[in-house]
Parts: sequence; structure tokens; C-alpha cells
Amino acid sequence: MRAVAVILEALQHLILPCPRPLKRLGVLHGLIALQNRARRCARAWAPHLAAARSIAVAGMEGVSGRELAVVCGSGLLHDVPLAELAARFERVVLIDLFHMPAARRAARRFPNVEMLAHDLSGVLEGLTGVDLPEPKAAIPFGGQADFVLSANCLSQIPLAAMDAVAGRFPEDVVEEWGRRLIAAHLDALRACSGVKVLVTDVEQQQVVAATEAVEDTADLLLGLPEPLLADRQEWWWDLAPAPEAFRTSSLRHRVVAGRVVAGRVV
Ligand SMILES: C[S@@+](CC[C@H](N)C(=O)[O-])C[C@H]1O[C@@H](n2cnc3c(N)ncnc32)[C@H](O)[C@@H]1O
Repeated sequence: MRAVAVILEALQHLILPCPRPLKRLGVLHGLIALQNRARRCARAWAPHLAAARSIAVAGMEGVSGRELAVVCGSGLLHDVPLAELAARFERVVLIDLFHMPAARRAARRFPNVEMLAHDLSGVLEGLTGVDLPEPKAAIPFGGQADFVLSANCLSQIPLAAMDAVAGRFPEDVVEEWGRRLIAAHLDALRACSGVKVLVTDVEQQQVVAATEAVEDTADLLLGLPEPLLADRQEWWWDLAPAPEAFRTSSLRHRVVAGRVVAGRVV
């Protein structure tokens, strides 16, 4: 069964018309894996997706302007309240590195929704130089937006870039750079106009499925302190309940969400 899934993912990877550099960086592979895992784990993911969508809806209710909403890391639109956004704003811009066919089909239902393929780190085109490129994280249309949603992409933003340079630079240098890529997205969010809502995973735990005893943890913000958020909420996302990733262990992510407020990380 697992082998069939792997073959199907490889076929999708071959067939989907995605720019070659993104395929090489593993971006398409990540999106295909996300789509398939979301389907397999639909029941486990449901509370997380509902919480993420509802905090975005609550955030947009406090917005006075109605012209423009921007979504960063729109991906497969699992945690994005697209119908509510399209009903409330005259124009909705969905930003991701690549938009999968399912997301394109969903967006086509709304004439005021557009998709923008854009690298929110600003480094992916400059990875072959002798130095690590500086982040260029400004959010397109962020200065005019009435509402900006960063939809569970913060911890993902450095990953493809860090993988691509691994081995060419010392590990601690790559990690520090990854931390700066995360911080740059937070700074870019703070610089946007209007109301900004952040949904992000911040910690991974591997737990024994039977007892929930914690076996391993990982800091998904690479040591960066959690951002300061108003109306903050926190929950666990059952990302990969056993046997999805491990036969007897489960992976879960701690997610924090809320309105981004002025001031750097606490
Ligand atoms: C965990 S997924 C969340 C996806 C989405 N919110 C959903 O509901 O399906 C993280 C998303 O961030 C996107 N992403 C990662 N790095 C990015 C970058 N540098 N620029 C733009 N999007 C990026 C990925 O392509 C992916 O769609």
C-alpha cells in the first residue's frame, strides 16, 4: 500500500507542470505529500483546520477596509477560509511558491480571487552564489492590504532553501540563516498595513501513540522566540497519527495563532 502511494506521488511529480527549479528544490514534492497526507489524515486534521480558519475569520471581522486581502502560504487552501475572504473583500491575492491544480480549481470559483506564484523568502533564486543570500521577504501588496493572513507557512519558509545549501556551509551557519528567514517573514508581516493574522506551528513532538509519552521534540522556529500575538490561541495539530509516519509513534505540532502586533518578538 505504501509502495503504491510512493509510485503515485512520483507520477504526480513527473506529470504536474511546475517550474523545474521548484521541482529540484523539492517544493512540488512537499505539496504533493501535503495533499496526500491531508487526505489520509483528514479526520485527525479537522480540529486544527477548523481552529485555523475560525481565527482567520475572527481576524477579518475586525477589519474596516474591504478592498484587498492577501494570504501568504495559501498552499492547498486547507486552512484558508476562501469563501469568507472572497465574500468580504473586493480582491483576494493568494501567494505561494506554486499552486496545485486543486487550489486553482477552488480559486476559479471566485472571480475576485487571484493567485500569485512568489517566493516569500526572496532567496530561492540566489542559492548558487558563494555567500548565503540576504532575505528579501517583503509581502507583495502588503502595503495596501486591509487584511493579511500568514497561513501556516512561517516554519516552512526556510526549509527548501536550507536543504539546498546543506553541506556547502557549516550546519550552525545554515541554521542561523534559517532563523533569519523566519524572522524576516515576521518583520514583513509587521510592516504590512491593515490587520495581520498569523497561524503557525512552533514545536513538533514525537509521542508514543499508546501513552502520549514524549519521545522527541523539535523547535520549528529554530530557536527564535514565539511572536507576540493579540487574541492568541494555541492548540495541537495531530499531524501524523501512528502509523502515518511511524508504526507506534505519532507526530503532533503545537500551533499558535492570533493578530500580529507591533514590536519585535518577545
Ligand atoms: C504547511 S503548508 C500550509 C499550506 C496552506 N495554508 C494550506 O492550507 O494548505 C506551508 C505552505 O507554505 C508554502 N511555502 C513554503 N515556503 C514558501 C516560500 N518561500 N514562499 C511562498 N510560500 C512558501 C508551501 O508551498 C506550502 O503551501
